[in-house]
Amino acid sequence: MIYHDPVLLNACIEGLRINPSGTYVDVTFGGGGHSREILKHLGPDGKLFAFDQDNDAAANAPDDERFTLIPHNFKFIKNYLKLYRAIPVDGILADLGVSSHQFDEAGRGFSIRFDANLDMRMNVLQGMTAQKLLETYSEEELRRIFKEYGELSEAGKLAKHLINVRSDRPIKTTQQLMDLIRPFMRRGQEHTFAAQVFQSIRIEVNDELESLKQMLLQTSEVLRPGGRLVVMSYHSLEDRLVKNFIRSGKFEGEVEKDLFGHSKVPFKAITRKPVRPDAEEINRNNRSRSAILRIGEKNEE
Ligand SMILES: C[S@@+](CC[C@H](N)C(=O)[O-])C[C@H]1O[C@@H](n2cnc3c(N)ncnc32)[C@H](O)[C@@H]1O
Repeated sequence: MIYHDPVLLNACIEGLRINPSGTYVDVTFGGGGHSREILKHLGPDGKLFAFDQDNDAAANAPDDERFTLIPHNFKFIKNYLKLYRAIPVDGILADLGVSSHQFDEAGRGFSIRFDANLDMRMNVLQGMTAQKLLETYSEEELRRIFKEYGELSEAGKLAKHLINVRSDRPIKTTQQLMDLIRPFMRRGQEHTFAAQVFQSIRIEVNDELESLKQMLLQTSEVLRPGGRLVVMSYHSLEDRLVKNFIRSGKFEGEVEKDLFGHSKVPFKAITRKPVRPDAEEINRNNRSRSAILRIGEKNEE
């Protein structure tokens, strides 16, 4: 089985506008599909640094002296790039979320298709798992994640139900969770509902939105002026953060202006509208269907 089929590969590579002697960063290495394509566009002096917090990704690292794998969370991007004396860089690529490999490995607990322990950690060394979350979170915390990250209108009722059940017996496996949420599923919407519940738990377990915010904020410090930021999101919560950040340098609110009314924004948006996979790509790789690509270019200081 292939580890991961890279999404919007050409658009990402074009978006990076690769300088063959430049330094690039792929913050979500995964199966390395995007990284290998970046390497093809780099000359002998070019460099590529890649991050992945999942140890499984290391098996895909190309044997190439221009390439360095940093097996850590991308929220530490600036410190690691500093350590490798790689700042400033010419381009950063992020292909957010989980890989097909993570979904398809039954034991990782990401997928509603298999019975497994409720794990859902990308980094298996971290303490919080989906099981621990369902054991320890308060009703209010569960309601918040189902509402904010799953956008579920039944968030309150679902949280209450899980709290009641867990006082009698622990919720340990994906199929136990599926059985508990089944009564809340509308007919014909079963798959979507379950996917939203799993997605919301996964986002919280991996603290995905906070890591994304921290990484985005550091991109303007590590990119050189004219450098490109290319980000692919797979749901509206991520995309909203990326869109606002590229537009205004902030995640919410208005663009900041100086005393003369000039806007102070770190990036210029290269994509006015987001780029999405075409029908041919979606046909070939159904998992690409929700991809939303946005590109920004670092402004002069
Ligand atoms: C969608 S896959 C990337 C696939 C890759 N572009 C390819 O072509 O194979 C996302 C990868 O990023 C990793 N990842 C997600 N969030 C991360 C984070 N905060 N820090 C480091 N790695 C992360 C996941 O472990 C996963 O392997």
